[in-house]
Amino acid sequence: MPFPIDSEQALARHSLRLMLAFQTPEGAYPASPTFSAYRGYCWFRDGAFIADAVSAAGCAESAERFFDWCARVLQRRGDHIRWIVAETEAGRPPAGERMLPARFTFTGGDGDDDWWDFQLDGYGTWLWALVAHAGRHGGDLARWQPAVDLTVDYLLASWDRPCYDWWEEHAAHVHVSTLACIGAGLEAVAPRVSAPRAARISVTVDRIRALIDERGLVDGHLAKWLGSTGVDGSLAAAIAPLGFVDAAGGVGRSTIAVLDAHLNVGGGVHRYLGDTFFGGGQWPLLSCFLGLAHLAAGDRDAATALYEWAVGTATAGGDLPEQVGEHLIAPGMRQRWVDRWGPVATPLLWSHAMLLRLGLGLGRLDPASLTRDADASAFTPDHAEDSAR
Ligand code: BGC
Repeated sequence: MPFPIDSEQALARHSLRLMLAFQTPEGAYPASPTFSAYRGYCWFRDGAFIADAVSAAGCAESAERFFDWCARVLQRRGDHIRWIVAETEAGRPPAGERMLPARFTFTGGDGDDDWWDFQLDGYGTWLWALVAHAGRHGGDLARWQPAVDLTVDYLLASWDRPCYDWWEEHAAHVHVSTLACIGAGLEAVAPRVSAPRAARISVTVDRIRALIDERGLVDGHLAKWLGSTGVDGSLAAAIAPLGFVDAAGGVGRSTIAVLDAHLNVGGGVHRYLGDTFFGGGQWPLLSCFLGLAHLAAGDRDAATALYEWAVGTATAGGDLPEQVGEHLIAPGMRQRWVDRWGPVATPLLWSHAMLLRLGLGLGRLDPASLTRDADASAFTPDHAEDSAR
């Protein structure tokens, strides 16, 4: 243990150092360096939120190395993306298996394992994170422009297609949080693309908002997917940090209220009712998303309670899990997943990212002291030997 994890600040420092230390030479952030099913892969979704947190903590260079990685992944597939767009425009949308994957190996390959790959949200989220970063640290997007343009064209062609959700499930539906990720990403880059692209973005974002209004609401709050009556913890992200839904508006307020009522148990937030993955426990990263939404709505106390719950999920060594099992929706299912994939992913870098992001948002962390000793080279995580790097 390089230093004791005896305070919130120490946990935040550990979180930042984990993300920096595990970032690969190529710029990818591994989802979890030790977990059997994730080892060796970087997701656009997890990675974008990790880059956003690292950027918010002041480590611009690490975030930019991730954006470089995304750009290389996309540009390498430039011809394929142009083919998807052309086929779609010709009325022949390619099958889900021909669409871009959700995760890539660190060198940017597809990998050999079967996965629930067709997911659109990460392509919106990386655009959003890139622009948020540029807003924070300055600079233009010139170096990422070709990859931004490819992503915009891909999303403009495909945004309304059913695909797997954040949890890599329910591929037959159009998910509202996926739409919010796409909308937020497109809206963010609109001022930074050519006029014809910006015009198409404007029309598409209006259509996304209209579709959510028409079919993505139930009782005035966001629904899990178009036509669903359920909700999902990922919907908090639409409010914050993505800012696609106004926290102070009626939909934002009703969504926060229903997420609290249905999925928040004592500060720990479930993905959705009916979740059976590892027994359907509570996810610290979702507590942090809901905390960010509360914070955006001006409820500091509620955000603080969620943050403190998430802090309490750290192991003695300061690692945050993907989920904890104190309150399970489907207790009988937990062992099945342990038998299949081993213990819950710990550390999960995305959990660390969201904790850091909310802690910074709440002003409970001192950013200067976080970055002062954030030099990853001086830090060898306990799990380094397990990493697939
Ligand atoms: C989650 C995804 C996540 C991936 C890697 C999966 O279990 O459902 O949301 O991107 O793990 O962390």
